[in-house]
Amino acid sequence: MFEPLSRDGLAKTAVFYTAHGKINTPNILPVINPNIRTLKISEMKRLGMEALITNSYIIRRTEKLREIAESSGLHGLIGFDGPIMTDSGTFQSHVYSEIEYDNISTFEFQKRIGSDIGTILDIFTEPNFTWNKAKEAVLETRRRLDEITDPGKTIVAGPIQGSIYSDLRSMSAELMSSGISGYLPVGGVVPLLENYRYDMLVDVIINSRLHSDPGKPLHLFGGGHPMFMGMSVLLGIDMFDSASYVKYARDDRILLSDGSRDLNRISLLPWWSPLYGKFTVKEIQDLPKEERTRNLALHNLGAIFNELNEIRERIHEQTLWQYVEGRSRSHPALYRAYRRILEYGEMLEPLEDLSKKSPFFFFDELSRNHPAVIRLRKFSDGMISSLKGKVKFLDQGDWHPGRQHSAEFMANYSRSDTAYFHRWHDIPVPVELEETFPVEQLVTTGVFEDNTEPDDPVDSGSPMDDALSGDMKDLYLEKARMIFRYQFGFNDGSAMFPDQCEVTHSRKTGRIRGVFLDGSLLGTVRAHDGFFTLSIKGAERLMNLTDRHRISVSEESAEFNRKGFNVFFKFILSADPGIVAGNEVLVTDHSGELLAVGRANVPGREMMSYRRGVAVRVRAGTDPSS
Ligand code: GUN
Repeated sequence: MFEPLSRDGLAKTAVFYTAHGKINTPNILPVINPNIRTLKISEMKRLGMEALITNSYIIRRTEKLREIAESSGLHGLIGFDGPIMTDSGTFQSHVYSEIEYDNISTFEFQKRIGSDIGTILDIFTEPNFTWNKAKEAVLETRRRLDEITDPGKTIVAGPIQGSIYSDLRSMSAELMSSGISGYLPVGGVVPLLENYRYDMLVDVIINSRLHSDPGKPLHLFGGGHPMFMGMSVLLGIDMFDSASYVKYARDDRILLSDGSRDLNRISLLPWWSPLYGKFTVKEIQDLPKEERTRNLALHNLGAIFNELNEIRERIHEQTLWQYVEGRSRSHPALYRAYRRILEYGEMLEPLEDLSKKSPFFFFDELSRNHPAVIRLRKFSDGMISSLKGKVKFLDQGDWHPGRQHSAEFMANYSRSDTAYFHRWHDIPVPVELEETFPVEQLVTTGVFEDNTEPDDPVDSGSPMDDALSGDMKDLYLEKARMIFRYQFGFNDGSAMFPDQCEVTHSRKTGRIRGVFLDGSLLGTVRAHDGFFTLSIKGAERLMNLTDRHRISVSEESAEFNRKGFNVFFKFILSADPGIVAGNEVLVTDHSGELLAVGRANVPGREMMSYRRGVAVRVRAGTDPSS
């Protein structure tokens, strides 16, 4: 069971339920070697550890450990009563080639000792595998998943393999999502992580995420270096494991969120370090080896949880992209990977939220490929290519957020058939979207190249020399129509908001507030992002215009939703896959009758993936008493 709570693009915070309690994601499972205990469980818990991972292969082949695990259980052996994941021995086969156990007995052992998440014996696909060899490994790994028929309380982890081949990663993600798996580690990536091939990891992770079931946590095997965690989460990774906190400590290296440093070359510890105030750097350098390793491991685990905390907060504030963008400049390998992400902007766009709680940061040309900007560009390009009448650009100085248009502009606008555009970071944006995310909700450097083609079809003459038309156009009504078009994907907004509509606006700021028809409110424009929330009357009108933007729910749920209660995932019968997270949705019963209107918590294509949690925050039900 995986319950999403908040999201930021592909990143989410969620709760994953296991037999020994829940794990708040994103999260990391520190690797515990049952033979070598570097830190105490209590110390690790104090730093934030909720769950851990250990290796069933090592336990099984070490007689003393096996005996304790079989008599007192895995949790008794480790001395931890929270969620424990076990790995299968695949990684050992990657390092030492063949191992002596088969898949079925490997999983049976994990189940017998009471593992919360047990891993099948997958085939580690090395980056240098040929495509054919990697495909064989993907298919064999999937076949092994089918060998597990009765996992009991143990959640089955079915690794996604496929080496560096995007098509194989996609295939493996689909294959491993089907069947008995409840948890999806992305495997075969340690060599890429060790060699800083974060750009290749971007391909691996995006393809794994876009083709797997989002209702199952996606785990990056071995990806616990804080430097790459933010980027991984941005691309949809929910879980990490890592032995790096100990490995680096043994090498006298300290982990930081932007890399690692040699203990012998630093002069200060960061203030958040668990060692800060207890030791000077010199004192740590002078500790005996074992004690030094122990202390550095404490610091390193602290660095990992420190970073995790920041990532979670960024998801909450919906600023993870900005965080990753900023971080990407801390290392060339990260920057290369960041640029690679932007090549996927088009693919990420459908999963991008309608708007964010925080303003959009526009840095430079690269920001043009952010999914939110791609969405806007696609809309504007479509508009411009379909426009038959006159088109004009307003000067950049004509408008800025919070300032009203001049009386002159208003008079001209109302009497001309010209389509007016702002040049927004070199992107033509219809003037009517000037209050809508991300056009206004923006912090910009103002530094970007003007790439306008000389043969741009747009005439940028003065708005004042327009031919006057007979029809009067009302900027406020046109704004309502344009926002509606952008928000709901229509070519025309007049069917939703006909000429008789009355649009109210603030006298002080000029912002539009609400649209009324025959005295009834159809929708209100939200101050924070410039998009509509619909009333039931508005929802009814939208219902008559399209069969999109709908989810249908079971009988059990219908009576509650009609009264204005939220929609839970488990009651959804069907959902329009085109629903954008954060957008308005129409909730209907199985026969298509409108029950309620509210806001989608996840994209339409993920609506059917979860069994727990709120899918739609309902604002109003059709029951008049709601
Ligand atoms: N640990 C690191 N990589 C892997 C992998 O690909 N599979 C398994 N089972 N464990 C791993």
